[in-house]
Amino acid sequence: MSQTIARPPDIHLGTDYIGRPTSRVDGPAKVTGAAKYAAEFNVPGRYYGVVVSSPVTKGKITKIHSAPVLALPGVVQVFSHENAPALASLDKSYKDDGALGGSPFRPLHAPRILFSQQPVALVVAETFELARYAAFILKIDYEAEPHATDLETQRDAGFEPGKGKFGFQPPPAPRGNAKQAYEQAPHRHEAEYTHLAQHSNPMETFATTVEWLGDGNKLNIYDKTQGAHNVQRYITKVFGLSKDEARVVSKYTGGGFGGGLRPQYQVFMAVLAALELKHSVRVSLTRQQMFSLGHRPHTLQYLRLAADDHGALQSVRHAALAETSQFENFTEDVVSWSGLLYQCENVKLDYRLARIDANSPIDMRAPGAATGSFALECAMDELAYKAGVDPLAFRLLNYAERDQNENKPFSSKKLRECYHQGAAKFGWENRNPAPRSTREGPLLVGYGMATGCWHASQQKAAAKARLTADGRLTVSSASNDIGTGTYTIMTQIAAQTLGLPLEAVTFVLGDTSLPEAPLQGGSWTAASVGTAVKNTCDELAKKLLGLAQKMDDSPLAGVGFEDVQFVDGQIRRNDDITQSVVIRDVLQASGEEKLEVESGATPDTAKQLPYSMHSHNAVFVEVKVDEDLGTVHVTRVVNAVAAGRILNPKTARSQVLGSVVWGIGMALMEESVMDHRIGRYMNHNFAEYHIPVMADIHDIDVVLVEEEDDIVNPLGVKGIGEVGLLGVAAAVANAVYHATGKRVRDLPVSIDKLL
Ligand code: MOS
Repeated sequence: MSQTIARPPDIHLGTDYIGRPTSRVDGPAKVTGAAKYAAEFNVPGRYYGVVVSSPVTKGKITKIHSAPVLALPGVVQVFSHENAPALASLDKSYKDDGALGGSPFRPLHAPRILFSQQPVALVVAETFELARYAAFILKIDYEAEPHATDLETQRDAGFEPGKGKFGFQPPPAPRGNAKQAYEQAPHRHEAEYTHLAQHSNPMETFATTVEWLGDGNKLNIYDKTQGAHNVQRYITKVFGLSKDEARVVSKYTGGGFGGGLRPQYQVFMAVLAALELKHSVRVSLTRQQMFSLGHRPHTLQYLRLAADDHGALQSVRHAALAETSQFENFTEDVVSWSGLLYQCENVKLDYRLARIDANSPIDMRAPGAATGSFALECAMDELAYKAGVDPLAFRLLNYAERDQNENKPFSSKKLRECYHQGAAKFGWENRNPAPRSTREGPLLVGYGMATGCWHASQQKAAAKARLTADGRLTVSSASNDIGTGTYTIMTQIAAQTLGLPLEAVTFVLGDTSLPEAPLQGGSWTAASVGTAVKNTCDELAKKLLGLAQKMDDSPLAGVGFEDVQFVDGQIRRNDDITQSVVIRDVLQASGEEKLEVESGATPDTAKQLPYSMHSHNAVFVEVKVDEDLGTVHVTRVVNAVAAGRILNPKTARSQVLGSVVWGIGMALMEESVMDHRIGRYMNHNFAEYHIPVMADIHDIDVVLVEEEDDIVNPLGVKGIGEVGLLGVAAAVANAVYHATGKRVRDLPVSIDKLL
């Protein structure tokens, strides 16, 4: 059985995949249309449900005129609070994994209207066109009450949220004396930074297709979500179903950005209709309705910073006031970064909420940090000017070697390398420090930079691995891939661990029939599911070695697991790689058809506890501003990111590229503008809610800074889905100041504010 390979051991063989730029394994399915999204499961004979949204912001429904709609041939039912079954309504324990403090909104529960565009009815018909028409003509009477939707008018109504969302920590206690240090310092800066609500607008709108299987209450629920198990837990609790009855499938997700961290109301409505009608039903939301699912909250941030004559930071005061709904406390970490990013002995941080008559906000990519880093990093730029220090030098001068919030060392922190490598690539040293100093024809040129950090976290996850006698490996875990590259990196990890070619490995996700994985969010999937896949494949490898050792004249007899390598389709002895067996032969020789292992990973909290674990970035931006028109072009961006080990530089780079595009949108375009007279977001469509298009995007350079970390998890992975967004909006705003001499502290930096 042993084979001789004439290859020296120091050459990387074919199955060394981790860290190699690898194209998406799900790419072909996506571009050929083979990848099915929630609204594409063509369950035969299905009904269509169309959601009716409230035009009233606050008040109650007094009458639903269903009869004329039900009289239309082909209309099946109108569901509303009048006829929705009581089951869910009485059960307060049905909180989802993303649940906030307070009581989650319960669709069709009561006549009460809590926010504009609240779903108030579901019209079900035999065709989509008929359902849409019937929903359009359905007359509903409301009794409107006065509403308050403007956070600006609620400045004095702020309260400390206490325990909010799962995992939320209130800001750390003050240290030193921020007020006194500020008053005594020679260089001081104080300002307010604001932004309105923003809505994550994934390309795929939220949709659910429920397949009624006719066997008791058995359902296949094809849902757009970031977590199949989370939706299953919610649905089983609300409708009193068993796990067997509610299988949730979410194989492909056309962008999530946080919107799918909670089960959204279309899944509730589709399941309700399917159970009541004993029939398959599809419910898809419109782009307009996407603006009713939760948003990055309108936030007002007060920053007060001071530095001494050498530019050393003396005082940090950061206070945020953010909107939340009348029924939940949406919390995010806006301010704590300001006690963490820089060395400072006098820090006071505050985070407060105020209620308005809108839906609860929801996490949106790098929640809290994206907006907190905008305010902090603009303020740092302003203080650097006042102190007469270059903005990059100012940050290096105040570099935090330790997490002062937690009083812990960092598990690793290559932010200094981000600064140096990013600045070198960008050409920061060519910057003339004076604002309005650089022109190119009619354009003012500006350079700006900023920085950010994000949690490196790991959650419990499980996985299953199955090797069949044909040499194929299938690994599965009910994770999700919201476009992040999960399919690909998990395939890489599995292939490398077992030494199999990538093509021989299939990774399966997005199905509650698979081992449980956490929601895809928080940039934790690579660390969480990746470690689970690694452990599971290691266990499979051990079993495989056991079988290999039982083969006749096995060259591996008596060696330990640590003494062999799984490479190139073989198990080989480390001390003599010519002593090997072919993996495919092992199963065949054993007579087994397959070898299967189910395992997983939990974070090593004892190892992690003494450390602060974060990813970091430094962003450098060049803008060109047309003074006459006020138009801003982000012509160059260098984003240097240190996020631990990079499993796949190609998909990782794409995550950062996407983050930069997001950041440019956040800086220059995105805002959900509410007309407070009617309490509704008025630009709830892609014509008026602007996001960058290709013409807005120019040169983006991603630097993936090498960083080793054996504390965060065995793979050394910190996650990269969110960190790249941090500081981008601030760097753009800082570059605009450098170009024009004008500070815009209210996002987006739009033409009207610049002129
Ligand atoms: Mo992300 S906001 O954790 O989906």
